[in-house]
Amino acid sequence: MSDSTLYQGLTFLGFLALGYLVLKHTFKLLKGFRVHILSRWWKEDLGKYGGWAVITGATDGIGKSYAKELAKLGFNVVLISRTLEKLKKVAAEIEKQSGHKVKIIQADFTKGSEIYPKIEEGLKNLDIGILVNNVGMAHQGPTVFHASNDKEITNMMNCNVMSMLHMTRIVLPKMVERKKGLIINIASEAGTRPYPRVTLYCATKVFMDYFSRSLNIDYKSKGVTVQSVMPLMVSTNMTFNVKTNLLVKSPDDFAWEALNTVGLTNRTSGCLSHSIQSYVLDLFLTEYVMSSRIIAWIARNTLRILMSMQKTE
Ligand SMILES: NC(=O)c1ccc[n+]([C@@H]2O[C@H](COP(=O)([O-])OP(=O)(O)OC[C@H]3O[C@@H](n4cnc5c(N)ncnc54)[C@H](OP(=O)(O)O)[C@@H]3O)[C@@H](O)[C@H]2O)c1
Ligand SMILES: *[C@@H]1O[C@H](CO)[C@@H](O)[C@H](O)[C@H]1NC(C)=O
Ligand SMILES: *[C@@H]1O[C@H](CO)[C@@H](O)[C@H](O)[C@H]1NC(C)=O
Repeated sequence: MSDSTLYQGLTFLGFLALGYLVLKHTFKLLKGFRVHILSRWWKEDLGKYGGWAVITGATDGIGKSYAKELAKLGFNVVLISRTLEKLKKVAAEIEKQSGHKVKIIQADFTKGSEIYPKIEEGLKNLDIGILVNNVGMAHQGPTVFHASNDKEITNMMNCNVMSMLHMTRIVLPKMVERKKGLIINIASEAGTRPYPRVTLYCATKVFMDYFSRSLNIDYKSKGVTVQSVMPLMVSTNMTFNVKTNLLVKSPDDFAWEALNTVGLTNRTSGCLSHSIQSYVLDLFLTEYVMSSRIIAWIARNTLRILMSMQKTE
């Protein structure tokens, strides 16, 4: 083979690889435009799922915003959360705003399987179209795994993982029977790559993401859609109510944008800002970078960084 044939061959391969990359990223961009921008006006009608929407962890933050938004869209809602006074207060607020029915069920999801018979009973005669598995807890601060005790481990696994499995088991049979249903699982950006100092939290979110994606494949043909939502920063109690800005969303804005993406994507950061951030992070946060000193420093100082971003009131 002459040098010039080799040269031409390599040039051809180079163009092929470049063409592939350009096409791939153009496609991503176009899809992002459809999912996050056009969807403001052109979106799936969630009304087709009908009836009731069930939201776990619904008295605060992202869950409360999903509940308000779904009631606004015409659903009766069931709020499941830990604190009874907050449940009553939020139920009254949503009933008044939307004019739709609100049912509350008190449950502590850090507990084991003994809490689910009561929830199942409470949901028995309802025609459930949508389930939002939102409840979740994070670590109290940056932590290394050997510093956690049995109780913390059990609590987080129950709250973040087992709750999703049990709730899904409870609502899925009837969705299959009626050949329609929507399950939204609130995972996290933390489940897209291994972040340091939040090991168990990360792992629970990976579990949620893979469970959602696998479930979606199996139940597609049965009319049930499963969406995995992986937010970055949303200003809630979990994130010390940091100030909202271009990067940090308010829970209301986040839930509105995320609900617009239903039917258009089955795995999303949830909103435009977070999708752009995730796209950029994907390019830079390789596993090599993740184990670097600078990331380790940021991880150790998460609390201090969040505190400095807090609203000053
Ligand atoms: N905020 C973010 O930046 C962010 C980013 C990515 C993913 N996420 C995920 O989004 C979900 C919601 O987070 P959030 O920031 O909205 O949290 P949040 O503001 O702390 O709200 C949590 C909600 O869940 C309820 N809850 C907490 N522990 C519970 C338990 N053991 N049993 C029953 N209910 C419980 C709370 O009720 P009480 O008020 O009664 O405690 C509250 O209604 C979580 O799964 C989280 O991992 C959040
Ligand atoms: C999402 O999943 C549903 C089935 O659950 C499928 O019909 C649809 O095509 C998927 N949407 C996208 C954008 O992948
Ligand atoms: C906010 O979170 C802290 C723990 O990080 C908890 O002690 C406090 O009760 C929470 N506040 C509300 C209003 O849920």
